[in-house]
Amino acid sequence: MARTCLSIVLAAGDGTRMRSATPKVLHPVAGLAMVSHVLKAAAAAGGEAAAVVVGHGAAPVEAACRSVWPGAGFFEQKERLGTAHAVLAARAAIARGHDDILVLFGDTPLIRPETLRRLRLGLQNGAAVAVLGFHAEDPTGYGRLIEKGGELVAIREHREASPAELKVDFCNAGIMALSGKHALSMLEKVGNANSKGEYYLTDLVEIARGRNLGVVAMQAEEEEVLGVNTRVELARAEAIWQERRRNELMLSGVAMPAPETVFLAHDTQIGRDSLVEPNVVFAPGVAVGQRCRIRSFSHFEECTVADGAIVGPFARLRPGARIGADAHVGNFVEIKNADVEKGAKVNHLTYIGDARVGAAANIGAGTITCNYDGVAKHHTDIGAGAFIGSNSALVAPVKIGDGAYVASGSVITRDVPPDALGVARARQANKEGYAGRIRERARAARPAGKPAAKPASKR
Ligand code: UD1
Ligand code: MG
Repeated sequence: MARTCLSIVLAAGDGTRMRSATPKVLHPVAGLAMVSHVLKAAAAAGGEAAAVVVGHGAAPVEAACRSVWPGAGFFEQKERLGTAHAVLAARAAIARGHDDILVLFGDTPLIRPETLRRLRLGLQNGAAVAVLGFHAEDPTGYGRLIEKGGELVAIREHREASPAELKVDFCNAGIMALSGKHALSMLEKVGNANSKGEYYLTDLVEIARGRNLGVVAMQAEEEEVLGVNTRVELARAEAIWQERRRNELMLSGVAMPAPETVFLAHDTQIGRDSLVEPNVVFAPGVAVGQRCRIRSFSHFEECTVADGAIVGPFARLRPGARIGADAHVGNFVEIKNADVEKGAKVNHLTYIGDARVGAAANIGAGTITCNYDGVAKHHTDIGAGAFIGSNSALVAPVKIGDGAYVASGSVITRDVPPDALGVARARQANKEGYAGRIRERARAARPAGKPAAKPASKR
């Protein structure tokens, strides 16, 4: 039978070094709170239950956790007395008796599910404690994994380490898997007789060995276990995350000639044979289909782009924009809460908000849906095959029928029936010879002594 797993995430960090009113674990990587990344990895590694250990006043942290793990339990650590003490705050969850217990830090957002699965495998092979280690470029501050004859015998905190131990560069990432059967009794054995007077989770290694229980160390890349304490480290985590996800997308068939300039969100989906040109930003909630062309300097948020569509350059798709197959959205176009149906074209300098643009309709340059009257938003419905002449204002609520035309420069305030022409602008009048008369009048009015301006063509 499959082993059950409880993931305990320590998220009580005060985050002073972030210099922020926001709790540290809520700072986002790829648009998602760090603690949510950790929970997602834990869920993907097969965890059935999650217990998040929070500090005082952690309602927003709980909300972020619930958004990715609705059934997560929360436990308050009232005093910060060390990592083992923090884990014990979730005593009630541990006591429910899971086979495996994963201990994770809420500020380590790059941890991969595969790595957590590997740690759990260590338990399955008989260990009571499986520790994740990494070779640190600079081990300062980390607990060191002390090995004898190839076996992990202890973890020594930096402050406690002897000069010889300080030379060890194999460090504790902080992430551990514990056998559920032994976890509680081992945790209760942890004391605080050390230089910090804290209950160190790392003492579990010696406690387990003292009971003849197996202990193993597994290894991860340093990048993967990066702990974020400052905004500089947050930016580093973001960069690593972005590179990983860009590579995944490229390997799945998405073209990105300048991947380092494309910014993805945690949930960005892009189909194969789509091309993302340089300098494109995806905020959360975006799905792009296959064979799309996403042109430079475009910004996307909570929107969808169907197969074969072309968007940009310089397009902005806001929440609720749904671009149909083979549709075109061009430069300086903003679309919000609107369906642009199959094959429709909105190519230049346009705002489409709270609207439907029917299949194969053509929206001329400078068209604006006037969706807001200062109080409420209203809908504009543009039928299939309609043609909206340039520089038209469609004052919502309004409906343009299938196949209708709107004359350029119109301010449309009433519905236009299917196949009709809507014209709503002043009629043009040409006055023969009038230009010369205007010029004469202007010259006559010129103040004395002031030279005439050069003719326009020579300026
Ligand atoms: C810890 C490890 C160290 C490891 C390092 C990796 C211990 C004793 N030391 O050290 O071996 O190399 O992480 O980054 O475990 N926390 C609580 N409540 C507490 C104390 C800590 O929730 O009372 C949380 C923190 O918010 C943080 C995590 O536990 O997410 C680690 O605590 P921290 O104080 O950063 O431990 P380190 O000294 O870095
Ligand atoms: Mg730390």
